[in-house]
Amino acid sequence: MVLVAGSANLDFVVRAPHLPAPGETVLGGDFQTFAGGKGANQAVACARAGGATTHMLLALGDDPYAAPIEASLRSAGVAMHIVRPSDAATGTAFICVADGGENAITVAPGANTCLSAADLPPLLGFSHLLMQLEIPLTAVMAYATAARAAGVRVVLNAAPACTLPPELLALVDLLVVNEGELHSLVGRAASVKECLERLPCPGAVVTLGARGCVARLGQDFFVQPGYPIDPVDSTGAGDTFCGTLVAALAQQMPLPKALRQASAAAALACTQMGAQSSIPSASAVADFLQHAPKAEGALSEAALRQYAGLT
Ligand code: RIB
Repeated sequence: MVLVAGSANLDFVVRAPHLPAPGETVLGGDFQTFAGGKGANQAVACARAGGATTHMLLALGDDPYAAPIEASLRSAGVAMHIVRPSDAATGTAFICVADGGENAITVAPGANTCLSAADLPPLLGFSHLLMQLEIPLTAVMAYATAARAAGVRVVLNAAPACTLPPELLALVDLLVVNEGELHSLVGRAASVKECLERLPCPGAVVTLGARGCVARLGQDFFVQPGYPIDPVDSTGAGDTFCGTLVAALAQQMPLPKALRQASAAAALACTQMGAQSSIPSASAVADFLQHAPKAEGALSEAALRQYAGLT
């Protein structure tokens, strides 16, 4: 059983030919809304991956933006523990998606900032606690402390990037970051491998966009090349990776297989618009993996090993 503690946002999304540069105005298309927020996206991904009952601790405002988020979590099968502060709005995110699929996101966190140590539900029965950094760091720290004391494995997706206290990293069993987040935690070492070695956690995974991902477990390294797709919208792809990965680990799947599942789910998530709307079911991932072409050239395993400094 997995507990996700984190943010939930309503995403306001507009597509545009390119992301605006500072000071630039870009004319886009119609705006759409999607259920989002890194925490809620990861909870939906975990539940859709199957095999692990998923709960989520979240905070929502008492306003109309909360309903689509609750509906999305409910239809994915996530059991919700909702904190509803009377004086805060539901979190919102303002997202521009460029025609190449990349995005720029600004979050107004609203009620997400109201989660506190006292809100954590009892941890009995949970094997993993999955968190991100769109809720107060004090809450993340308190939940990680409680999880460690209860023997629950702590998985932290350190996104968005920020400086983390060493006391928090000491409580993390598995850290998941993208390349920028990795560098903001450990600086720019000579290689991805060396950056992963500098992290004090027993396990760490870095996602490298289309190239794939690299994981360190103790002294051992694992690589998973990315799956080639035509990207439509990359929003929530990293969250899909995290939620799918933790669902797999909660079923005691070996790490290499868990990375494969997570990478395939994340690739599929890039082929549809929106965050939670794009997260694939377990059967869609299984079907994709059966027919996925082998990565070649710049996206091959050899290229990934070389990029990461593993050869
Ligand atoms: O990771 C994608 C998410 O970041 C979006 O859904 C948005 O709400 C922000 O939290």
